[in-house]
Amino acid sequence: MARRLEGWNAIVSGGATGAGGAASEIFAAEGAHVAVVDVNASEAESTAERIRAAGHRAFAVEADVSRSDQVARAADAVLARFGGRVDTLYNHAGTVLVKDFLDTTEEEWDWMMAVNVKSMFLMTRAFVPAMLAAGKGSIVNTSSISAVAGTEKEVLYCTSKGACHMFTRAIAIEYRARGLRCNAVCPGFIRTPHGLRELRELRALGVEVSEDDVARLQGRICEPHEVARAALFLASDEASFVNGETLFVDNALLVGT
Ligand SMILES: NC(=O)c1ccc[n+]([C@@H]2O[C@H](COP(=O)([O-])OP(=O)(O)OC[C@H]3O[C@@H](n4cnc5c(N)ncnc54)[C@H](O)[C@@H]3O)[C@@H](O)[C@H]2O)c1
Repeated sequence: MARRLEGWNAIVSGGATGAGGAASEIFAAEGAHVAVVDVNASEAESTAERIRAAGHRAFAVEADVSRSDQVARAADAVLARFGGRVDTLYNHAGTVLVKDFLDTTEEEWDWMMAVNVKSMFLMTRAFVPAMLAAGKGSIVNTSSISAVAGTEKEVLYCTSKGACHMFTRAIAIEYRARGLRCNAVCPGFIRTPHGLRELRELRALGVEVSEDDVARLQGRICEPHEVARAALFLASDEASFVNGETLFVDNALLVGT
């Protein structure tokens, strides 16, 4: 079977670990040259090295994608490596804050919106011109079940993911006529550093998310590659008529509640 991203240039933000790390590896195995953009430079480098050791192509770029100066530097570096051509951008970087709403601060609000939402704005704005020049490109954003299901102790997180949903839809409409697609993957609980910390912190605040609760809600915990494979589908030409969509990767969690 032909590889699905053969000869593509792909960018994965938050591409060092977790589901982003899985996407970096899977996109590269599907034929893409992958820019692993992450604030964690050492993990990004080891992921890129692992990909190269497997005979595929990748390089690491250190950047906090919530910061415009760092995104601008990263974009220059990535576009130089890619000769100005970008086929797909996966905006996966993000984080979670688990707290009683009244204990949250203005600084935490700004941080959550910057890491989860402004990052998508900055990265997409940086790479859309290259896609427009080619008349083709796909963008995938990581949203969450928390964009539509209010989850306890996560008001700021849920709000930020609601914004990811609408960012996805509005970008899709704005650029549809010029050959771009923009979709979101919306996972349930994933076995990643982020997901395991979130479950630990929710349990500490008395929210019922024991292993049995996760099993009742979504059958079992989701593995990182299961999110990455959904992102691969949306990024690839297999999803050529899928645009502005939010694909839930939650084993029927939402439809079962
Ligand atoms: N894990 C879950 O249960 C779950 C569920 C739904 C959605 N998500 C979403 O997945 C993403 C988290 O990824 P994960 O679960 O694969 O966990 P993860 O923590 O392993 O991966 C997140 C990656 O993003 C990087 N990152 C974080 N902030 C960054 C920044 N400002 N700039 C650049 N890189 C940054 C981290 O260094 C890390 O490599 C978030 O967008 C989160 O909302 C996770």
